[in-house]
Amino acid sequence: MTRSIWKSTATKSNFPVLSENLETEIAIVGGGITGITAAYLLARSGKKVVLLEAGALGGGTTGDSTGNLYAMVDKRLHHIQSKWDKETASKVAQSRAQAVNLVEELVNRYEIDCSFKRVPWYLFSETEKKDKTIEKEIEAAKDYGLPIEELHELPIPVKVSTAIKVENQAQFNPAAFVRGLAEQIDSANCRIFENSEVHHIEKKEELVLSTSSGTVTAKKIILATHTPKGIYGLQTALYPYREYAIAARLKSGDFPDGIYWDTEADFHTSMRTYSKGSDNYVLVLGGHHKVGQEDDYSRFFDKLDENARRYFDVEEIEYRWSAQHYKPADGLPYIGESTDDNIYLATGFSTDGLTYGVLAAMILDDQLNGRENAWRDLYKASRFTPVKSAKNFIKENINVAKQYLKDLPGKAEVDSLEEIGPGQGKVMEIEREKWAVYRDDKGELHCQSAVCTHMDCIVDWNDAERSWDCPCHGSRFKATGEVIEGPAFSPLDKRNLNKKE
Ligand SMILES: Cc1cc2nc3c(=O)[nH]c(=O)nc-3n(C[C@H](O)[C@H](O)[C@H](O)COP(=O)(O)OP(=O)(O)OC[C@H]3O[C@@H](n4cnc5c(N)ncnc54)[C@H](O)[C@@H]3O)c2cc1C
Ligand code: FES
Repeated sequence: MTRSIWKSTATKSNFPVLSENLETEIAIVGGGITGITAAYLLARSGKKVVLLEAGALGGGTTGDSTGNLYAMVDKRLHHIQSKWDKETASKVAQSRAQAVNLVEELVNRYEIDCSFKRVPWYLFSETEKKDKTIEKEIEAAKDYGLPIEELHELPIPVKVSTAIKVENQAQFNPAAFVRGLAEQIDSANCRIFENSEVHHIEKKEELVLSTSSGTVTAKKIILATHTPKGIYGLQTALYPYREYAIAARLKSGDFPDGIYWDTEADFHTSMRTYSKGSDNYVLVLGGHHKVGQEDDYSRFFDKLDENARRYFDVEEIEYRWSAQHYKPADGLPYIGESTDDNIYLATGFSTDGLTYGVLAAMILDDQLNGRENAWRDLYKASRFTPVKSAKNFIKENINVAKQYLKDLPGKAEVDSLEEIGPGQGKVMEIEREKWAVYRDDKGELHCQSAVCTHMDCIVDWNDAERSWDCPCHGSRFKATGEVIEGPAFSPLDKRNLNKKE
């Protein structure tokens, strides 16, 4: 089973299930870093808030992240500068640094036990081939007043040609931060419910959110669900990718604190340490593919294991997991009011969303309180940027269009149930319909329609996570069909094998 180090080690939260009908000013859907920080800030400013989380707080992508906080971005600041301009890239760095400062302030104010510390961030090339990237990032970072240094070796055992070091970035345990902050939210103004999945949002004069055991009627909603639930035009500008992670317990070796990013490697693109008691871990992340578009998902873990053992004295790979992120078409996240009145979004964070999530909460807090915010227009969800988005928009939407062709007759993976082994899932064609069929470890079959309930793409079996993943906009479903994440609200439709025979 896959499980992240943070979800496995952070103290559990304990909020009730929604079992009544409530009215509130603002309903927040999602209790990751975005939702909880927004709930904290809004409740502090006197707003009445109800937060509904489908599972456990921090149990989404926040608890599957690397736990790094930094002003830079995954896509590199110099790319933002060339796509947009110097001023925009500078604002990105400034706004992100402000969000990291807020995390530090909250950790200190409430003594949140989440191993927060300031550490340097490094980006390095292994060969001269990628030195240009580093040089460009150094030039860009100088312009934004970041404390940088150029290096040609690093304090970890990897090959280095050139590196940039930026001091004073940060790391923490993201699940512990979210759960710790939730405990500090003013409970007179904000009620939090866990295991309370929103199945439906009725958009009348007021907005009504339904779970299986209650409702919340709200004037405004924040969809802090990583990607917006339901159908939004914005989904054509959000591209879902998966990435893989391991946490290896070390036998020996001194691995200095820091955020280490490799420009060249696919299977150790990001590395950091974490200590728990006397155990020292190194986290190694990498592997990257569009959701639902792989043949062999498990191979990513094998490559990460191999690389961790090559560089470090590994006792045991104790945790393995994978997670999802959404790339925005024009390189910046979408934060603010959606095309639906009174519904607010915070999405398109790429792999930088611990910082962007906090920044989104700060922007939404100002917006919903009618205050000015210096970054609001830069990130606004309704912006239209055809030129800056064009390249990604065309490439990614052609890719989505191709996924719909999988619904054509004859495009099934197997012809008979006997070809599906224990623990496997396959797409089959039964009576001219695509079924997602899973055989559990005991040999029992679980059948459902393979048609994604979001917008009808055909799902793909993910052997590493035992899930059905949709290649179009990233919805994921359990082997037995229930929603895990993504824009879909409803589970895959059940199918009954006996009825078809
Ligand atoms: C492998 C990987 C590593 C990363 N590492 C970093 C990093 O080091 N630094 C960084 O800044 N970013 C990182 N990111 C990105 C970052 O993790 C995310 O952008 C961020 O956690 C998003 O937070 P969120 O609160 O918006 O979403 P989430 O944490 O996913 O929270 C959304 C919540 O909404 C809930 N939800 C969904 N649907 C419903 C519903 N219908 N009803 C109720 N609740 C619902 C979910 O259960 C979930 O808890 C990484 C991403 C990946 C994939
Ligand atoms: S996620 Fe949109 S069709 Fe599946």
